[in-house]
Amino acid sequence: MRVGISGTPGTGKTTLARRVSEMTGISHVDVSSLAKERGWVLAHDKARQTDIVDENRVRAHVARYADVLIDAHYAELFECDIVFVVRCPPPTLMARLLARGYSREKVKENVMSEMVDACLAGAVEAVGKERTYEVLQAAPDAMARAVTALIQRPDPSLSVLNRRTAHYLTTRNLDLLQRC
Ligand SMILES: Nc1ncnc2c1ncn2[C@@H]1O[C@H](COP(=O)(O)OP(=O)(O)OP(=O)(O)O)[C@@H](O)[C@H]1O
Ligand SMILES: [Mg+2]
Repeated sequence: MRVGISGTPGTGKTTLARRVSEMTGISHVDVSSLAKERGWVLAHDKARQTDIVDENRVRAHVARYADVLIDAHYAELFECDIVFVVRCPPPTLMARLLARGYSREKVKENVMSEMVDACLAGAVEAVGKERTYEVLQAAPDAMARAVTALIQRPDPSLSVLNRRTAHYLTTRNLDLLQRC
């Protein structure tokens, strides 16, 4: 199974994917690290302080695996059977991104993206609601156990088709963003 682990930068994709890989034995591909290691970076977007990854090279690489955990900001770009979207409450995400030393502009852009469910929307568009699962922030092992169980036995009743999704677009979070 080709499993996407998607989410806004800093939500905890790599932390989760590493643990799920340990629990399931499925290979983990961290797309941004792989692209950096192999030189599969087309350009650096200076304004947004981010690398533009050569998606075709990454796609060809992950296509070699029958079973794989694809850890990427927009994992659904790499043909997934199911996608887990890691969510993080905006105050926690903001603190994590500031601690990384990201510029205020970059922090705001990412926190806003989390607030408007951008990654969730991308996953739903690509694989449909029935094959998209939200993973709410919890202790890393609890998150990994929940994801492992769903990989072993997908359950559409727990997908975003049947579950209410996170609601982060609140006045309180907008105020927080403004004060950043
Ligand atoms: N479940 C969790 N509970 C507490 N802290 C966490 C959790 N998951 C991740 N973190 C912490 O949050 C930070 C970001 O985690 P991580 O690097 O896994 O995110 P990411 O989504 O892979 O980021 P990027 O998109 O930049 O690769 C790290 O400091 C990590 O230790
Ligand atoms: Mg990561």
